[in-house]
Order: sequence, then structure tokens, then C-alpha cells
Amino acid sequence: MTERAEGFRAPRGTYDVLPPLSWDWQALVRLALDLFAAGGYAPVETPAFEHTEVFERGVGQATEVVTKQMYTFEDRGGRSLTLRPEGTAPVIRSVLEHGLERGPLPVKLSYASWMFRQERPQKGRYRQFFQLGIEAIGTDDPRADAEVIEIGMRYLTETGVEPRLLLNSIGHPDESCRLGYNRSLVEFLERNVGRLAPEDRERVQTNPLRTFDSKEPKTIEVMREAPLISDYICDACRKHFEIVRGLLDDLDVRYSLEPRLVRGLDYYTRTTFEFVAAGLGSQDAVGGGGRYDGLSESLGGPPLPAIGFALGFDRILMARRPSDEGPGAVDVYVVAIGEAAQPEALRLCTALRRAGIGADLDLMGRSMKGQMKDADRSGARWAVILGEEEMAAREATLRDLESGEQERVPLDQLARRVSDS
Ligand code: HAM
Repeated sequence: MTERAEGFRAPRGTYDVLPPLSWDWQALVRLALDLFAAGGYAPVETPAFEHTEVFERGVGQATEVVTKQMYTFEDRGGRSLTLRPEGTAPVIRSVLEHGLERGPLPVKLSYASWMFRQERPQKGRYRQFFQLGIEAIGTDDPRADAEVIEIGMRYLTETGVEPRLLLNSIGHPDESCRLGYNRSLVEFLERNVGRLAPEDRERVQTNPLRTFDSKEPKTIEVMREAPLISDYICDACRKHFEIVRGLLDDLDVRYSLEPRLVRGLDYYTRTTFEFVAAGLGSQDAVGGGGRYDGLSESLGGPPLPAIGFALGFDRILMARRPSDEGPGAVDVYVVAIGEAAQPEALRLCTALRRAGIGADLDLMGRSMKGQMKDADRSGARWAVILGEEEMAAREATLRDLESGEQERVPLDQLARRVSDS
């Protein structure tokens, strides 16, 4: 018995994208990239793995992503590499490596890529998942914040997700701002450490802000009384946030202020946000993002304020309005009757495809009835029937599969006849 016969399965937390869903998948990715391009965001591709330090320094040593979720391995040359758990640090690494920040700013980039995190799989949470993202790099203009958020909301709305936008500002890492707040938060947490869920007590020292992320009811209860960052951020950050909110109002983008929204990655500064969708259960964040004004410097680059988001495409597919569109890529199905017609069917299909018409044919030697069934299944509008009689006359029977009407058309006029209708 071969190994294959015992049955392979995709690794835990991964999945295959099969037709018909893969048609929707492709259409929705294309919609996103077109919409991002229409906002001036150019596509970028970066490697699926990076040097591990890119994430350690970029995403942050104390984050769950870095401490618990990375697929890190040593290659044969003894280098530590990591499958990318997210796209922002790699994009900044790439911008800095190629000196794009020395050209016209902002650098506006978009991506549609697989990401990898070793999380406990559940509905909407995978180990290999797909993100759509944009990054506006090199500007601290609040209009960039509003632009990015509006684009994310518009894409989600167009897919039928009905997103809600949660918005916060977490200031910047300075004593006058977030660091001052952190001290007050730690004091509060230390006073209440006995009331926190045991699994959250360690965070008080390592990553106090993340205590707001806890799903433990006991901790959530305590955090209701915790000091809020919005009361502590410095004047410049407060002003920035006010302008962003004004611009969002101006663009009719609705949001809820969420002063307890802290993001799971350490690079965030100032504006942070999440898009949530109904009906997804506990994994209801269909996207998230924010400013990361210090990330470039963490990676050894110059100051380069930036903002972006990533959307969880797998979750969008679950939350969106179901589409009733079929594949729609095949316009014509060529039916060959008799062996002599078989090579002609391939020739005709190829000629149609070369003329830009989607065409398919039977490759299994099916009966005419079987081929007509397959034609229906293919979603084609037309069947082109090639029998002995048609072949002798250098013609084909063109049947409209919707109306059932049919006519004889010379072979060399078929492409025009089909594209004209
Ligand atoms: P993130 O919040 O870690 O942010 O991920 C963004 C989105 O990716 C989440 O809201 C969720 O929809 C999806 N996601 C995350 N983990 C998983 C998973 N295990 N399975 C399925 N979906 C998942 C970032 O990744 C930042 N890089 C976003 C960003 C871009 N910030 C600035 N620019």
C-alpha cells in the first residue's frame, strides 16, 4: 500500500480553497486590490519568511505573536528564519532595504498574502490565514489615518460584511503620554492583582496594556475600573485624534470610541482601530490596524510615521453576503459528436480562447448527452455542436443554452457571432 492510500490531510489549522468558493475568493481579492489601487496603493510582494529579528524587533518581544505563535526555524545555514505572522514589519523592512523612503512620500503599498501563526485553531482562527492590507508610509498627516480607515470600511461594506469600526488612540511611547499612563495602569493592576484571573497576573509586569485584551470574565470585570489611556495622552496626540475623528465624520464613516481597545502588536502609536462583524462568534475582528510611527526606527531606519490595516480575508468570507454568481469564466462549451470531431473540438476551443472567449470541451470521450450535461454544469451560455454533417459543411450548430434556440454558423464566423451577442 502506498502512503497516499493511508490518506494525507492538510495540517491542522490550514485549509484548501476549492471551487466553487475559490471563484468568490479570487473575485473578492481582485475587488480589494482594485479598490486599493484606486486609492493610489501599489501592490507589493515580500517573502513568506524573514529573518526572525524583523518580527522580534518590529512586532515586539513581549507580544503573544512573538513569544507563542511564530513558526521559527533554523535553515541549513544556521540562520533563524520565521514564516511571517503579519505583513507590516516585512513591508517596512522592504521599504528600508530598497531606500523607498528616500523617494516621494508617502509610499503607499497594498498586499494580499498568506500569514502564519501557531494559534489554537477554531472557527475563524487558522494557522495559515490570508490577509489583505494597505500601508501609507512616511506621513503623519491625520488625513492618511482617515483615508486608510475609509478604504477598509468601504471594502468590507462592498463585500456585504456590515462592519463596525472601533476606534481609539493609544498615544506615543513617552513619559508625557503612554509611558506615564502605563505607570498609572501598573499601579492600578498591582492594587487589584488578587482580583485578576490567575493567567493574567503575569502580564501586569510584562505587558500591562494587554490586560485589556483578556477574555477572562474576572479580569474584564477589573478592567472596567482601570484608568483609561484617553485620559492620559499628550496634547499633540489628543489633537491628532480629534482631527482624525473630524475627518471621519466628514467622510460619513461611523465609528464607536473604544477606550479599552489595545492592539496585540507592540508597534502601534496614536490611532488604533478594529473592524468587527456580527455573526462570527468570538473571532469577530475582520480587520485591524493603526499608526506605527516608530516601527521604522525599531528596524534601524529613520523616523518614518505610517499607518495601515490588515483584513482577515478568511473571516470576511464567512461574514459577507453570500454571492449567487457562478464561475462565469466559460462562455462556450464545444460538444464533439463522433471521434472525427474530437480534434476539431480542441482546435475550435483554442481558436475561441485565442479570440478572448472562454471555451471548454469534453476531455473524457463522453456521449453527446453526457457532454450536454457537462455544458450545463460549466455555466457556459452557448453550446457549439460539431457533428459529421457540420464538419462536412465547415459549420457548427450554435445552441443558446438559456433559450434553447439554435442556428448553423460557419466555423470561421463563430468567434464573432458569440462575441457580438
Ligand atoms: P492583526 O490584528 O494581528 O493585525 O491581524 C489583522 C486581522 O487578521 C485580524 O483582525 C483578523 O481578522 C486576521 N487574523 C489574525 N490572526 C488570524 C488567524 N490566526 N486566523 C485568521 N485570521 C486572523 C496585523 O496583522 C497588523 N499587521 C495590521 C496592520 C497593518 N497594522 C498596521 N498595518
